Amino acid sequence: MSTIAEARFDDASFYLGDPHAVYRDLRETDPLHWYDAGGFWVATKYDDIRFISGHPELFSSQQVAILSDLRAIRAGRGEVDAAGRGVMFMDPPEHAQHRKVVSHRFSPGAMPALEPAVRGVVVDVLDGLPAGAFEWIAQVAETVPVFAFSRILGVPRDDWHQIVEWSTAIAAAGAGELSDSDLRRITEEVGPYLWSQLDARRSEPTDDLLSLIAIAEVDGRPLDDLQAVTYAMTLLAAGSETTQSLIAGMAWCLSEFRDQSDSVFGDAGLAAAVVEETLRWWTPVMSMARQAVADVTVRDTTIRKGEGVLLLYPSANRDADQWGGDADRFDLGRSDGSRHVAFGFGEHFCLGAHLARLEARVLLEELVARFAGIEVVGAPVLRRSPLIHTFDELPVRLTPR
Ligand code: HEM
Repeated sequence: MSTIAEARFDDASFYLGDPHAVYRDLRETDPLHWYDAGGFWVATKYDDIRFISGHPELFSSQQVAILSDLRAIRAGRGEVDAAGRGVMFMDPPEHAQHRKVVSHRFSPGAMPALEPAVRGVVVDVLDGLPAGAFEWIAQVAETVPVFAFSRILGVPRDDWHQIVEWSTAIAAAGAGELSDSDLRRITEEVGPYLWSQLDARRSEPTDDLLSLIAIAEVDGRPLDDLQAVTYAMTLLAAGSETTQSLIAGMAWCLSEFRDQSDSVFGDAGLAAAVVEETLRWWTPVMSMARQAVADVTVRDTTIRKGEGVLLLYPSANRDADQWGGDADRFDLGRSDGSRHVAFGFGEHFCLGAHLARLEARVLLEELVARFAGIEVVGAPVLRRSPLIHTFDELPVRLTPR
């Protein structure tokens, strides 16, 4: 178990250990912590993370949105090129103008129209599962979000497996952790593929999401090719590994917390509560980041103009001042469970939150309709990532009804 002094917030191995022990110490002794080795601040309290996220005029996303941007600032990276920036790297008022290109498709009111497509994907995936033990990650957690999202984007059915194959590189791009081979796949395969799909829709638009992006205008001007490809890639990157993590965490929690799992497999009406409590307790996205645009005092601490802050969502989601003394307990009975910050907060609140909730809820409902329980039957392999909390391998068995 590492101590605050030993914690390496910019290194994936820290997150493979027991980061919650460090988060607890930080919340109690040094809630807004200067991480000297990385040269940035670390925010661990629920209220502070909401304050920072809720004030984009004080804390910008333009150059710093994720952990790797904090590292890059330290290494003296130049400014991120405005042309290739997606919505995550924009501040008001530009941000809202770009976000509204697609946001109506992801509103709560748009979900009932998407539900049949999502349910169709889930049913196909569950119908294809083998009897006995199988790999939950490769066969369910990875495929459901990528298939569902490919369908909503309008990617032809024959190409869905290709998108799953590309998803590691796409996720690495979203996390700012591209290896040379990932970079090659993005520039030589994914980018040109998305561009050709977008280009085809410019001449013959349909009602899919790619068409919406292809013909979108911001400030009366169409998105240029780079902006359109970046938009499609941002959606894929932001929506695949994150939802994979939620679905992975849900299976693990249902196997681990048997008493609560039994009640869910007896009552599918609890599915939405499982999704919210998994989002809180498991927390798929481990952090986002911001950069102060002026000297700002948070608590008793002044963050200087230009300094970066890491927002540790898993810590906020277990903060006893928000959740009470049993914050570490997975508890489906919480009345305030959905107030977690697993989707962030404020200006950049996750665009796909309602879709991710829909996918996870429908998956659970269909599982409960077919099976009496889920059990992890082999050693899970946690993913080595500083950004996404998930498994690479999670062998499970579903109990027949
Ligand atoms: C369980 C699944 C998901 C989790 C945990 C998650 C989490 C997050 C978080 C933490 C942020 C940053 C919020 C902030 O900076 O304040 C975010 C932003 C975003 N998410 Fe998600 N996300 C999920 C699924 C999705 C899906 C399915 C989509 C697909 C549309 C998506 C698209 C986005 C986009 C486009 C942004 C950037 C929004 C902006 O900057 O305005 N996410 N998400």
